[in-house]
Formats: sequence, C-alpha cells, structure tokens
Amino acid sequence: SAIKSSLIEPDGGVLVDLVVPESERGLRTTEAESMPKVKLTKIDLEWVHVVSEGWASPLRGFMRENEYLQSLHFNCLRMKDGSIVNMSLPIVLAIDDETKERIGSTTNVALLGPTGGLIGILRSIEIYKHNKEERIARTWGTTAAGLPYVEEVITPAGNWLVGGDLEVLKPIKYNDGLDHYRLSPQQLRKEFDNRQADAIFAFQLRNPIHNGHALLMNDTRRRLLEMGYKNPILLLHPLGGFTKADDVPLDVRMEQHSKVLEDGVLDPETTIVSIFPSPMHYAGPTEVQWHAKARINAGANFYIVGRDPAGMGHPTEKRDLYDPDHGKKVLSMALGLEKLNILPFRVAAYDTVEKKMAFFDPSRAKDFLFISGTKMRTFARSGENPPDGFMCPGGWKVLVQYYESLQAE
Ligand code: ADX
Repeated sequence: SAIKSSLIEPDGGVLVDLVVPESERGLRTTEAESMPKVKLTKIDLEWVHVVSEGWASPLRGFMRENEYLQSLHFNCLRMKDGSIVNMSLPIVLAIDDETKERIGSTTNVALLGPTGGLIGILRSIEIYKHNKEERIARTWGTTAAGLPYVEEVITPAGNWLVGGDLEVLKPIKYNDGLDHYRLSPQQLRKEFDNRQADAIFAFQLRNPIHNGHALLMNDTRRRLLEMGYKNPILLLHPLGGFTKADDVPLDVRMEQHSKVLEDGVLDPETTIVSIFPSPMHYAGPTEVQWHAKARINAGANFYIVGRDPAGMGHPTEKRDLYDPDHGKKVLSMALGLEKLNILPFRVAAYDTVEKKMAFFDPSRAKDFLFISGTKMRTFARSGENPPDGFMCPGGWKVLVQYYESLQAE
C-alpha cells in the first residue's frame, strides 16, 4: 500500500507469517504426506496458530534447545545482530518415546491435528530432553501440585521436545462461530492503519469485564488524549486459548464483552475487539511479559497492566501464587520490552460510598469491597445482584445465564 505504516515495529523487524501461499499448498501437502507424523494436542495446535501468525515474532517455529534455554533462563532470545527480544514462555512441542523412535534421524516431520488432518510441517528438526520439573520450576517458580497448565499439558506430555521451522498449510480455524474475531497481527496492523490510529493501547484479559476493568481502559484513553494523541484505539484483546476449568468460557465472555460495548461502558467507535489465540499458563510476572510482547507484534505501543496479571490463587495454600504488584513491576523493567509503553494501574474495587468501581484508597480501606471471581459466581448462583455499578446489567445477565446453565447440569 502507498501509506507507510507508522506503527511500532514487530520484534525482530519483520512480522513472521508461516502460512504456506495457496499456490504451493498442493505441493507441500504431498511432501508432508511422505514424512513421519507427529500428532498435535488441541493446545499444541493453539501454539501452532500463535507462532504461524507471528505473535511470537521473530520465533519461526517450536523452539530448538538453544531457544528453549534462552527463554527459560533469560526470558529473552538473542538475535544474530546481538539485539534481544523478549520471550518469557517456552513455546515447545513434546513427543513421547515411540514418536521419537519413529522419527529416527529424519530431518522434517509432518504435523497432524487432534482429529488427524494435516496441519503443517516442522523442518530441520532437533530433538532434545524434556525435563519437566526444571521447565515447571523455572516457568512458575513452583512445582506445587495443581497448576492448571501443568496438569493439562506438561504432566501428560512426552519426555522429549522437538524444535524446528514451522510451515502451516492453511490458516488455523476453529469453526466455533468466533473465527471472525480472530484477527492475526497482520490483520490488526492493517485495521489500525486504516483507522489512522496514532496510539494503540492493548488490554489483555481472560475474565468478564467489570466496571473496574473499564475504569483502567477509559482512564488510559483520557491520559493518551491529554498527552496529545488525536486518535487512540483500544485493542480489547481477550485470551482465546486454553484456560482453567473455573474460568468463564470464551463464547460466554465474547457475548459479555459485546454487551459491555452495547451498554456504552466502552466506546465501540474507538475499540477493536479481537481474540488473542494463546493458551494461558497462569505464570504471573513471567507470563505477563509474553502477553505484552505478543501485542507489540500486533501493533500496540501501549499496554495496560493492573492487579496480579496472569495470576491466580496458590493451588494448595490460601494466598495468591504471586505478589499482586510484581506483574506490573516486572513488566516495567522487562528486557526486550523497552519500546512498549507500560501503563501500570492500582487495584480497582467497589467503593460502597460512591457506589461505583474506583481506584482503591488505602486511607479509607473499609469503604471498599473486593468482588472476586468466586464472589461473582456466588452472586450469580444465588440469583443475587452484585452492587449497583459493579458491572453493566446486560453483561451481568450473560453471566447469570451461564452460571444457571452450569447448575442445571
Ligand atoms: S489476566 O490473566 O488476563 O491478567 P484478568 O482478566 O483478571 O486476568 O485481568 C486483565 C487485566 O486487568 C490485567 O492487567 C489485570 O492486572 C487487570 N485487573 C484485573 N482486575 C483488576 C482490578 N480489580 N484492579 C486493577 N486491575 C485489575
């Protein structure tokens, strides 16, 4: 196009796109059919999606051992020119002993989806040991039993990792009625350019939007306008991959988010709602770096972070797994994220005097009510309404219906 984009540069300078051009699809498919096959789990496929669209740019496939070690030990990858990019989560593909045997000394393997169809190719592969305990301890800072991603993904996985350059035969689709929300970094960048946005502020979330979340987003917009930006655009970016069992499912969240825009809590004119296809680790300050880095690749130059990002309760003790302030502290200092403007926020809670969500004021702590996910569920289940001003009525109704449907099961 004639208009030169003024958006933030993707990590590594060029946005990675690993989807095979349509004209070559036939040839590559034939080639893949002759290769040893590696079967992907549902979550492996989510990572294939993530990597193929360039969210992890400049990463071009599942990590080889060198990349894995850099990610695990430095939360960064070093480029050939000596520069570094942030990469705080290992993006790896596990295989079992039998699959390793079958691959033998072959250089390229074909990837099969969970239902058996050909998905892509991994080239110039390298197989190395999957030391699960070390991976878990370094990623989460604990090996406590009950970490959702560990139980769902890592514990059942094989004892080997296979890295290599990825090619995807065609764009990954889920056919769940939500694919139109799944804009790739390239598509998002195009949309931001079309809208002539001069600032893009991203909001990562995996929960329904209450008015405290909205406060962070609307306050950011106000600050950006004050700073002189003329057309700041909000990227409302719910995570769409694996989440833990008691989180609200994606389809319900998308409906809830629609209501929040309909009810005018957020401005539909200056907001783009899209799905971030990554699975969730719940690895707190380590993971929030990934969340932010991926949004650079999608064109965001501002990133909102509040209380306990990517955090959760400790799986065996009665406390948060991470210090709720560490996410924003780490993000503000993270290596490789220097070009991203981090917007740290204090915790928001329900102000029982003002009857609205507001930033917590410790000098009158007793006026504030913290409404956790658990508390929300209790309200919804008992048919009780949360206090006025906690969430817009349309959005709350979606949640009530969801929790009622759970009870009916
Ligand atoms: S996350 O796993 O995606 O980080 P969540 O959907 O709960 O979880 O949070 C989305 C964003 O909102 C994160 O930046 C988080 O820090 C912030 N946040 C969530 N709840 C609050 C709150 N009560 N006050 C301030 N920030 C919050």
